[in-house]
Amino acid sequence: MSSKPILQVSNLTKRFGNLVAVNNVTLQIHEGEIVGLIGPNGAGKTTFFNTITGLYTPDEGRVIFKGEDITGVPPHKICKLGMSRTFQVTKAFTEMTVEETVRVGAYNRHGEDDVMEKVDEVISFCGLEEIRHQKCGDLGLASLRRVELARAMATEPDLLLLDEAGAGLTAAELAELMEILRQLNKEQSVTLCVVEHVMQMVMGLCERIFVLDAGELIAEGTPEEISNNPRVIEAYLGERAIR
Ligand SMILES: Nc1ncnc2c1ncn2[C@@H]1O[C@H](COP(=O)(O)OP(=O)(O)OP(=O)(O)O)[C@@H](O)[C@H]1O
Ligand SMILES: [Mg+2]
Repeated sequence: MSSKPILQVSNLTKRFGNLVAVNNVTLQIHEGEIVGLIGPNGAGKTTFFNTITGLYTPDEGRVIFKGEDITGVPPHKICKLGMSRTFQVTKAFTEMTVEETVRVGAYNRHGEDDVMEKVDEVISFCGLEEIRHQKCGDLGLASLRRVELARAMATEPDLLLLDEAGAGLTAAELAELMEILRQLNKEQSVTLCVVEHVMQMVMGLCERIFVLDAGELIAEGTPEEISNNPRVIEAYLGERAIR
């Protein structure tokens, strides 16, 4: 792992009226890392993603991606620069097939002449061959989540943010997802940031973990440090089973 930062967030604040959803957060993610972002419901995890990917404009703070200031830059430009994300509530286009959905992502870096090459590669990588011609509206949750991941991967990000990609999956589906993510990180050098309530996935996958509570970053450290941090246990882990 290099220690070169890919993402530098400083003093990021996002308010909704009187509610401070993200409160003065400063953190760095290094090239090649897999980091986790955890915290109770309403802690600000999704808002943090929305604010660094340009969906929301921060009220305060700076976001530097690959050395470039991207604060206030619109989402499609940030995606072009190499940061993609998956959505917590899968926004699959129900009338589109799996293949068409992945193609939407692939157009980020490809034109008509070579877009299908990328689509085939990602569909194969994510194990979606058998359902590539099915409509997304007909798919179950596990498949939909995988299509959502494939769409984001097809944009060819350097940094991929995953918002609860493991939610609602069976143990076997979760193991498959973790394997795909490990491969993506190792073989394609994609830096990953996963927001996740499934502790098995966070603890098994991440080298470092950030903890948000009520918009504030209350801890950062290795899975072991986080599991033993009294403040994190009190705010979040509590009775959650850590395997
Ligand atoms: N668009 C919005 N307008 C107003 N308030 C919002 C908006 N989006 C989020 N919030 C509020 O901001 C806070 C942080 O929400 P957010 O969705 O970021 O939390 P989260 O950590 O992703 O939670 P979860 O684990 O449930 O997904 C919550 O109090 C939420 O109600
Ligand atoms: Mg969320």
